[in-house]
Amino acid sequence: MSLLKALSIICGLMLHVSHGALNTNYCAPRKTVPYQNELKMFREDGISNYSTMLMRDDLGLLLLGAREAIYALDIDDISVRKSEVYWPVTEEKQRECTNKGKNAEVECRNYIRTLHRVNDTAMYVCSTNAFSPTCDYMTFVGGQLKLKGKQEKGKGKCPYDPLQRYSSVMVGNDLYSATSINFMGSKPALRRSSNLALGTEDKSSWFSDPNFVHMDFVGESFDSSDGDDDKVYLFFSENAIEYDFYSKVTVSRVARVCKGDMGGRWTLERKWTSFLKARLDCSLPEPSLPLIVQDVFLLKHQDWRKSVFYAVFKPQSSLSQVSAVFAYNVSIMRNIFNEGKFKTSIFAYNSHVKWVMYTGEVPVPRPGACINDVARKMGINSSLDLPDKTLQFIKENPLMDEAVPPLTGGPLLVKRGALLTRIVVDSVLALDGERYAVMFIGTENGFVQKAVNYAGEMFIIEEIQLFENPEPINILRLSSTKGLLYAGSDFGAVQMPVSNCSRYDMCVDCILPRDPYCAWDFSTGRCSSVHSLPPSPITAMQSLKEGDVSQCPQQDPVAAVDFTLVPQNNIQLSCQLHSNLAQVIWRFSDQTLHSNHKYYIYSGGLLILSANESDAGLYTCDSVEQINGRTYNRTVAVYHLQLSSEPGVEDSTTPGRVTSLGVAVGLLSLFCLCMGVIFCIWRGGRPTCSKEREEAAVAVRLEGLRYLNDKSEI
Ligand SMILES: *[C@@H]1O[C@H](CO)[C@@H](O)[C@H](O)[C@H]1NC(C)=O
Ligand SMILES: *[C@@H]1O[C@H](CO)[C@@H](O)[C@H](O)[C@H]1NC(C)=O
Repeated sequence: MSLLKALSIICGLMLHVSHGALNTNYCAPRKTVPYQNELKMFREDGISNYSTMLMRDDLGLLLLGAREAIYALDIDDISVRKSEVYWPVTEEKQRECTNKGKNAEVECRNYIRTLHRVNDTAMYVCSTNAFSPTCDYMTFVGGQLKLKGKQEKGKGKCPYDPLQRYSSVMVGNDLYSATSINFMGSKPALRRSSNLALGTEDKSSWFSDPNFVHMDFVGESFDSSDGDDDKVYLFFSENAIEYDFYSKVTVSRVARVCKGDMGGRWTLERKWTSFLKARLDCSLPEPSLPLIVQDVFLLKHQDWRKSVFYAVFKPQSSLSQVSAVFAYNVSIMRNIFNEGKFKTSIFAYNSHVKWVMYTGEVPVPRPGACINDVARKMGINSSLDLPDKTLQFIKENPLMDEAVPPLTGGPLLVKRGALLTRIVVDSVLALDGERYAVMFIGTENGFVQKAVNYAGEMFIIEEIQLFENPEPINILRLSSTKGLLYAGSDFGAVQMPVSNCSRYDMCVDCILPRDPYCAWDFSTGRCSSVHSLPPSPITAMQSLKEGDVSQCPQQDPVAAVDFTLVPQNNIQLSCQLHSNLAQVIWRFSDQTLHSNHKYYIYSGGLLILSANESDAGLYTCDSVEQINGRTYNRTVAVYHLQLSSEPGVEDSTTPGRVTSLGVAVGLLSLFCLCMGVIFCIWRGGRPTCSKEREEAAVAVRLEGLRYLNDKSEI
């Protein structure tokens, strides 16, 4: 073995080193599931941008919109294509588009952006069509997907610019959409396309350079005590008008309108009379610029009052790597809109506009309120009857003074590293009879984070790599009934099951991930999906909040593996931990080993440098994991090192060379240790994710190696 080879082995090992104290901040996923080839996926050569999806359980289809194509895929297995339609841009349209200065191959193509259900057989489709948004009906009849070919103008329903975010929702036969309504992309609007079309005022107090993210419908008229109306909620970010900063600051907002709104008679004619908006409070424990909302999922409850919006946020500054998830309850939002104070603008010094809380008298009926029993008692039966005072007020002051507070007062999840992009949430009934919200969060590098918040404790059960290359997840859809998740990126669509309990073959491995979908079934001795278990008698167990494995059957002790010790050789003992959050502890006889001139502990095992006779004996590798404040200890591997009966046989090098190699290795390991110490000091300031930490460690070490190389050249 040459010196170079020894160096390369040790330096290679260093790339896998994981140092540091026990990770307790849970910003790291407990487990990382790397990309698996057996994931069901769909993509077609020459087609890109798989970013629009519509689940049709009734038809057994997942409709997938891409660039110039729409696919009808089997909802149980999206690699099975049932039918497709292509909708290429015409040459004429493309020419018009390029003549206006847009890029032919990127912008002047036809991106499918909207897919909505209309009725049993029909869907509504809108696409950018080379900066000339167009909509059409599409049917699925006799196994065939067909466009009606009755193209209609899509202005206000779908953006011109394929890169612009927008959102829409179909309520009955009415399409509510929030998008830019001009070629330049500079005129934002929230519109309803129906027999009675409505739009927003073109004022910066209504929208100020917004980025629309999500819309949803909440049927608040159901069982309403005050004769209230249904609502459509819109989530977006925009320039803050209310802050006195010298530079622009973006804030996240929620706006809402009433379904029954018909606009005003003179003031706000054909405009929303019920448009109200509020800031979303999404502050992190540490000071930062406001986070920016990226995606929202409405976790519906039978009682709409208990429905919850889950929102993922990214940092405002590109220097920060902190994303977060916050949740907002529908009733709390509703109370702020229905009862909260308004903001209003005043002229401060040198005619500078300042937004402050409105303290004057609020007109009756309350501005922005839906037509409810109070209004009806006053003889006001539709928004057309609203008095001018109410309408003038809302036209000027649509912003609420109060921000919507997050459900638990703070974030449900904070994660450093690759930014979070999309979210869906499943409500999972566990064995304890409680429902847990399991969040599936897409990232900009092709992973899904599966996370829960157990009474304030942020916990990422696992991260699953869905795309082989690090591409952003642009869309996520969840079929709770099928237990399937669908993800789309620029390059393909992938399907994954919400859980894979059978992956865990031992009781402790089933319980420690604290996955609400999985339980240990004593009767079969398997880790099974909770909903596949018979309802009674209960023969299975979970321990979600505690992660308590004390009820697991006693495990057989790990059998010792015999290993031959050849004096003067380096010995590598491997040990793979089951959790990213666990720390490894190596013991030799009764003594705990630390990395030093003799031992090198790395994430894959232990290296004993230049072993000698006294190293013979029993080595144990323990995994130590903190679970909700408790320590869980487990022996993962045991080795029995025995002195070789024929010393020197396996090593053909001369004793002298072995010694010089030994010295070199010793020096290098000392160097490794030094770098480790430097790194620990550098890290001293604040805790970081283990991944990041590892990357940083590698960077520091590589720097050190370069330094060493430079030195040796002198
Ligand atoms: C479904 O909607 C389309 C488009 O509005 C309409 O032409 C068709 O008659 C409807 N079909 C049914 C079965 O209602
Ligand atoms: C479509 O995908 C390509 C990569 O193939 C990407 O560069 C482009 O930005 C995507 N366009 C949209 C509108 O998402």
